[in-house]
Amino acid sequence: MTDSGIIDHRLTEPDAAPSGPPAFPIPDNVFAEKVVLVEHFTDRLFRFRITRPASFRFRSGEFVLIGLPNAERPVFRAYSVASPAWDEEIEFYSIKVPDGPLTEHLQKIKPGDTVLMRKKPTGTLVHDALVPGKRLYLLSTGTGVAPFASLIRDPETYEKFEEVILVQTCREVGELTYITHLVTDLVNDPLVGEMVEGRLKLFTTTTREPFERMGRITDLMIGGTFFEQTGLPHISPAKDRAMICGSMAMLKDTKAMLEGFGLIEGANNAPATFVIERAFVG
Ligand SMILES: Cc1cc2nc3c(=O)[nH]c(=O)nc-3n(C[C@H](O)[C@H](O)[C@H](O)COP(=O)(O)OP(=O)(O)OC[C@H]3O[C@@H](n4cnc5c(N)ncnc54)[C@H](O)[C@@H]3O)c2cc1C
Ligand SMILES: NC(=O)c1ccc[n+]([C@@H]2O[C@H](COP(=O)([O-])OP(=O)(O)OC[C@H]3O[C@@H](n4cnc5c(N)ncnc54)[C@H](OP(=O)(O)O)[C@@H]3O)[C@@H](O)[C@H]2O)c1
Repeated sequence: MTDSGIIDHRLTEPDAAPSGPPAFPIPDNVFAEKVVLVEHFTDRLFRFRITRPASFRFRSGEFVLIGLPNAERPVFRAYSVASPAWDEEIEFYSIKVPDGPLTEHLQKIKPGDTVLMRKKPTGTLVHDALVPGKRLYLLSTGTGVAPFASLIRDPETYEKFEEVILVQTCREVGELTYITHLVTDLVNDPLVGEMVEGRLKLFTTTTREPFERMGRITDLMIGGTFFEQTGLPHISPAKDRAMICGSMAMLKDTKAMLEGFGLIEGANNAPATFVIERAFVG
């Protein structure tokens, strides 16, 4: 347990033996990686880190399919890689869905356990899908912040943009802990620490528990409060680019808002001024 009450377990002996032989054979064409760290933030949210296969390459912002070796045909689910492309380990930020086919088990993993990862990463929240601009807006709700935890740790983000504005809206204050700690600690990062100073802005809000900033980002931007509070100019297609990650409803409303500001949706094969990705289905 850390001072903040967050439970943090790290594998102290990287070569520690797993608790026993796997009960099921590892499927073909997946990486079987070892859990090295598990950190629980709330009863609904945790992060974990696994070893990185030497041959695994991905672009910051992409997602992969992960599962557990707990069945003959394991359940695989999409997960954004939350760590940057240069990291020696792979990090994920996860929901705990009660009775969720994957996360009812995933939430119990411990250092030394095995996580399965399909070999092919994919996704639209990548630099290649945006045309050059001055400011990059990363707009998220809930676990939709995960791909942005990767992008804000990637030097390419600061080589391409002068300013990066990361937004996360959650129902409750405790759900903001992961990204708040990550951004606070980023100034000490040996690779991007100097780059982020004065250039990365974190704007967090809640909607169902009192907090210093409250409201959905769509309401705050359309109403103008966001721009008054941050001193940033209104979003314009001349200088601003955006990535969105959240629920289906959030994507729909945020996409409509950005289109109202004059931005155009892009894709890997047709870069434009904003891109979107689902944080979950349903
Ligand atoms: C492209 C993509 C990237 C994703 N990245 C992540 C990620 O980085 N972290 C993550 O935790 N999940 C992510 N998800 C969701 C993830 O794939 C699973 O749905 C989630 O792990 C729950 O799995 P499950 O089998 O326990 O329940 P499921 O059967 O998959 O989900 C059951 C229900 O739980 C709710 N739910 C599922 N996922 C979430 C979520 N993340 N936040 C809030 N409610 C949810 C939905 O209402 C869903 O219908 C992503 C999904 C997509 C499509
Ligand atoms: N059992 C529990 O304790 C518990 C707790 C929370 C959630 N859940 C369930 O988990 C699922 C996901 O919940 P979640 O909180 O992770 O995700 P969510 O419902 O998408 O909410 C995350 C944040 O996004 C905001 N939001 C929702 N729709 C939006 C839109 N169209 N535009 C802009 N912002 C929007 C929400 O604001 P609003 O508050 O205004 O909607 C909230 O602040 C839901 O099915 C929910 O019922 C369970």
